[in-house]
Amino acid sequence: LAAFFAPKLLAGQRVLITAGPTFEAMDPVRGITNLSSGKMGFAIARAAREAGAEVTLVAGPVHLPTPRGVRRIDVRSAQNMLEAVEGQVPGATVFIATAAVADWRPASSAEHKIKKDGSGQVPALAFVENPDILATVARSERARSGSLYCVGFAAESENLLEHASAKRARKGVPLLVGNIGPATFGQDDNALLLVDAQGHQELPRAPKAELGRQLVAEIARRLGVAAA
Ligand code: CTP
Ligand code: CA
Repeated sequence: LAAFFAPKLLAGQRVLITAGPTFEAMDPVRGITNLSSGKMGFAIARAAREAGAEVTLVAGPVHLPTPRGVRRIDVRSAQNMLEAVEGQVPGATVFIATAAVADWRPASSAEHKIKKDGSGQVPALAFVENPDILATVARSERARSGSLYCVGFAAESENLLEHASAKRARKGVPLLVGNIGPATFGQDDNALLLVDAQGHQELPRAPKAELGRQLVAEIARRLGVAAA
């Protein structure tokens, strides 16, 4: 019912969201990942849909139901996620990167399960850097021409404002949303710090569902300002 009465702040917008962790394989049964639950991204997807947007959610491995009316594309690795996102960018008007993308992946993934050889020897893992999905999208023609509004996230364990401001500049996005982790990972509550060219603003601790709605309203306001 709340959804029915939600103001249609994002009517006509096509919102693309990444959420959850990525999983980087080292062999067919093992890999590295991180503790993102995907809850914040899924809450934003739901709120954007309720605000009248057409929403595509590119999700890493998470255990969450798809919000009603949202189109979901499941992916596993950062490379899969980049590919899925790049396929959707041409139609999108807003990109929100909430995914906790693994920064590195094993340099190679064994075709078959790596076996113990009985000698006590451990496998050496070498890593390579994953593509930066947000920075790639922010550099795209659509983003640079103003047709695609990009929003980044940052989970930091300290100096949130400083790190978030620096990250906003580094990624080249108009809006960067910071939160203090890992305490909030997997929780139903969060608190957000919005950093844009005008300054910063806090969305105080609240359920992620509520923060999703507040963030959607803030994005809609900025889109309105940009369009005016
Ligand atoms: N991000 C991304 N692709 C990556 C890494 C990050 O799209 N390979 C996005 C995240 O979804 C988030 C933003 O970039 O919106 C910031 O992610 P974060 O991990 O905080 O920043 P990094 O640039 O990876 O820096 P670091 O982890 O060292 O703080
Ligand atoms: Ca990172």
